[in-house]
Formats: sequence, C-alpha cells, structure tokens
Amino acid sequence: AFASPAGDTIPPLWSLDATITLASRARGQRELSFPEFFLGVQRTALQPDEMIVSIQFPSMKPEERGTFLKLGLRKAQAIAVVNVAVVLGVDSDRISSASIALGSVGPTIIRANEAEEYLLGQPLDEDVFTKAGDLSAAASQPIDDIRGSADYRRAMVKVLTVRALQQLRDGEERQDWPDHPESLHENREHGTENRETSHAGNQSPDDLIEFSLNGKPVSLRGRHCKSLLQMLREDLNLIGTKEGCSEGECGSCTILLDGEPVLSCLLPAMKAHNRKVITIEGVATDEDSHPLLQSFVREGAVQCGYCIPGVVMSSRGLLDRNPHPTDIEIREALSGNLCRCGNYLKIISAIRMAVE
Ligand code: FES
Repeated sequence: AFASPAGDTIPPLWSLDATITLASRARGQRELSFPEFFLGVQRTALQPDEMIVSIQFPSMKPEERGTFLKLGLRKAQAIAVVNVAVVLGVDSDRISSASIALGSVGPTIIRANEAEEYLLGQPLDEDVFTKAGDLSAAASQPIDDIRGSADYRRAMVKVLTVRALQQLRDGEERQDWPDHPESLHENREHGTENRETSHAGNQSPDDLIEFSLNGKPVSLRGRHCKSLLQMLREDLNLIGTKEGCSEGECGSCTILLDGEPVLSCLLPAMKAHNRKVITIEGVATDEDSHPLLQSFVREGAVQCGYCIPGVVMSSRGLLDRNPHPTDIEIREALSGNLCRCGNYLKIISAIRMAVE
C-alpha cells in the first residue's frame, strides 16, 4: 500500500499477474490489476474510505517456474538498488510464456513487455538471454540516487534478468535460498504460521495476550493496536530493546520469539500470544555468565551501545541454533543489524570469542 518503487513483494506479484481487492463500507468491493492500482511513487488508486482486503494470483502452471533476484547494498533488510522477478514457461525446450517485472528502476514496478514478447518461442540459450537482458534494461527508467546511479541500475537490470533466466533454465533458482530462511512469524518446523498460537487476526481490545517473558508468565489486555516493541517498552518497562528506525531496517529492536530473532517493531503485540519472548533483559539477568556478555565487554565491542541489545539478541539466536558458526555465518546472522559507530569488526571478534 505504500507503493514504493523498490518494494520487494510487488515485482513477484506483478509478474504473476496478481490482482488486488479494495473494500469500502459505502461502495463495496472492487478488484484492480496491479497497473491499475499502482499510479506512481507512493501513489495508489486506494481511496480514503478504502482498505486492501486481499491480493490474489493464479497459481503457476506445471511448465512454469519463477524466481526473484534482488541487488541491495547489504544482505538483509536493505532497500533494493534493483530487483527483478521472472516467471518463465517452457514447452519442448522453447519458451512458451514469460513475465519480467523490474523494481527500483522507475516510478512504479515496470513490466519489460518487449523482452517478454521477444522471448516467446525462443530456445533457452545465452544469446537469447542477453538480448532479453538488453530489452529489459531498455524498458527500465532508473534515476540516480544515493543507492546507485541510473547507468549502474540499468546495467544491473540486464545482469539480473540474464541471471534469472539462466537459473530458471538450469533449475537453480533455489540454490541460494538459505536452509532456514529468517522469518518474522513462521513456525520453522512446519514452514507455516502457527495459527493456533497466533491470533493476530482476532484483534479486539478485550483480547488477552499471554506469553512467557524472559521465563516469567505475563498477561495483558488492550494492547491490540501496539507493536510488540511498544508493548515491551511502554507497558512492561523493558527499555533495553531499542527503537531505531521503526520500519524493519536497523535491527535495534531484535528480540527472540520462540528462539528466533525477530524485529519487534514490525510485529503486532498480539503475535506474542502463547509464545516465549526473550529480550536483552532476559539475557542479562538470568545469564550473567553468558559468554556473549563477557566477550562484548572484553573485546570492546560496544561504542555508543544503541545497537548492541539487538546485536546481542541476533548473536544469541545464532549461537542457540548453531554453537559453532563460521565467520560467514556470523556475518549473515548480523547482516540485519546496523551499528552506526561502525564497530563491526569488534562485534564479530566478540562473537568469535564467545564461540571459543
Ligand atoms: Fe529498526 Fe525495528 S527499530 S528494525
């Protein structure tokens, strides 16, 4: 609904020809295509009395595969410099359908129509992919900004389009997926949200939120319109968890929810219901001897300290599930935590020390 041209969910949905349903109490429902809904930078067809009630898209056909590639300035929680979603149908080694949606290179997501038309009936070879990449780059309308120049973005549209087509041809579109993707609210074992323990869809002021907070039971009512971060800080007085950006970019608000690091600024308070929450206070009071706390002090990993609760919680989540991470795994686990002092090397060596 924010209609960011750099939004990550929009290109995949656009490439799947999704539609969006809006509802108004006075005028009922209407269903719009994505091009009808997204009108420009942060502009949509949503009227003041409407809200989005659903998004739907046809399932992919058996001969189709899709992928989404994103270029950002860091690995997690970064706005795209360029992103590309491609859905490709292949029949008897020829391309039978193609959708290519380009993000962060125009006022809204752009469909590379000429590239899509060119691909129809073509074989899956490199020359064809290169030409499709050129046509995608030509369809983009990038601007220069702090994250990249227009020329760089145009070049990267070509690179990502070709790479996506190669991955789909070679069946390698899943190769870079992590074994355990980070998720705000998924039950990893079952791969889906645990609906029994999450009643975020039933948010009334009377709903009770009962959960374990740093090992102790807590119950609260009337927090249905707060984020989990606000509930922790304002209602439970746990101010160790910090608010930086409030929009999922900085990682300062990281806590553990059922053992997984999550961004508490993005989670409705109701998501804590029937779950186990651990905050920095839980690490500090219950486990004074936790190796992470000692090593952060001994390594001098703390400068201004604002990011550190979030960094410690991400590190704790990592070490709980992987007591002997490699350096790359440490860097990946921390890639969503920004330190404005730039103290990353000390932070990483503190975690290494804790591992040892
Ligand atoms: Fe920045 Fe939550 S406050 S990610």
